[in-house]
Amino acid sequence: QRQNEIDSLYIALNFAKDFFKQQLQTPDGQAIGLSYFKERDLRDGTIDAFDLGYSSSAWDAFTKEALSKHYNLDILQKAGLTIVNDKGRQYDRFRDRVIFPIHNLSGRVIAFGARIMTNDKNQPKYLNSPETEVYHKSRILYGIYQAKNAIRQVDNCYLAEGYMDVISLHQAGIQNVVASSGTSLTKEQIQLISRFTKNVTMLYDGDAAGIKASIRGTDLLLEEGLNVKIVIFPDNDDPDSYVRKVGSVAFQEFVKNNSQDFITFKVKLYSKEIKDDPYRKSEVIKEMVASNIKIPDPIQRSVFRRQIAHLLDVDEQTLITEENFLIKKER
Ligand code: UTP
Ligand code: MN
Ligand code: MN
Ligand code: MN
Ligand code: MN
Repeated sequence: QRQNEIDSLYIALNFAKDFFKQQLQTPDGQAIGLSYFKERDLRDGTIDAFDLGYSSSAWDAFTKEALSKHYNLDILQKAGLTIVNDKGRQYDRFRDRVIFPIHNLSGRVIAFGARIMTNDKNQPKYLNSPETEVYHKSRILYGIYQAKNAIRQVDNCYLAEGYMDVISLHQAGIQNVVASSGTSLTKEQIQLISRFTKNVTMLYDGDAAGIKASIRGTDLLLEEGLNVKIVIFPDNDDPDSYVRKVGSVAFQEFVKNNSQDFITFKVKLYSKEIKDDPYRKSEVIKEMVASNIKIPDPIQRSVFRRQIAHLLDVDEQTLITEENFLIKKER
């Protein structure tokens, strides 16, 4: 029974994906949706590889079409595609937006992200499918289907924030990239990556939010035993804007030259505030020790301990004392 329902959800979601793709090729879809993608420099092959689509501003264009094809209203609701309001009126969740289907590991569409095409601050920039029987946002990464072979091949996974970062890099020939897409990174998402590689390079946005998310993400990645590098982009750039600015060769060069381990990342990040402030400096050292004890491998932990000692001029025995204190506290 439940399996039947899940199959029906997949079929409805696939139908919606095809519908939104077709809408992108209608005269309105081309004038509004396709031209939006073209303004963002996406090529036809890229649009196709990611199954990008368009939803018109009509209230129920999709729902009407699906019902006329005998899709069940209950399934359309459970798939997160159709909303029925208090008055019993049926309408489409995604309207007047460009559509980013979210694929699972085997390439099936399980959800959608949808972006407004204006700078209207009164509505969310991206609207996403709700949690459904087939979409658990904490367990999936955007782009994993398109990226998995490349991740295995280069033995590294670039982790970005957004849909457009994944797509833009992919178009630039950099295919080992996925995004956590708005949700903060989870343990399940990291375990998904670790099926393909143990090496993660975080390419979060170069703004305050991105830096904060990098700090949090680092601890989680370390805890899962992954090797993590962090790249901070200049001037509020994100991977999408940066690769379009400098091109793919310079992008790869930048990533290569600016991949920092978590110690170097934090030393640089906090360098100004700890320079003349021993109290702040000791806080930062404690934060680094707290990150370091998350690493399961004792050799790695000792290598990073030595680095903390060296870069912040504190002796290793003191760091070990602090480690033991933190470990005891956590128990
Ligand atoms: P950003 O605000 O960095 O957007 O959010 P972006 O990806 O750079 O978007 P563009 O370039 O303006 O199109 C990063 C990610 O967070 C999620 C989306 O997955 C987005 O890609 N997000 C953001 C939402 O889910 N809802 C929002 O309203 C905003
Ligand atoms: Mn479930
Ligand atoms: Mn951002
Ligand atoms: Mn961004
Ligand atoms: Mn962006």
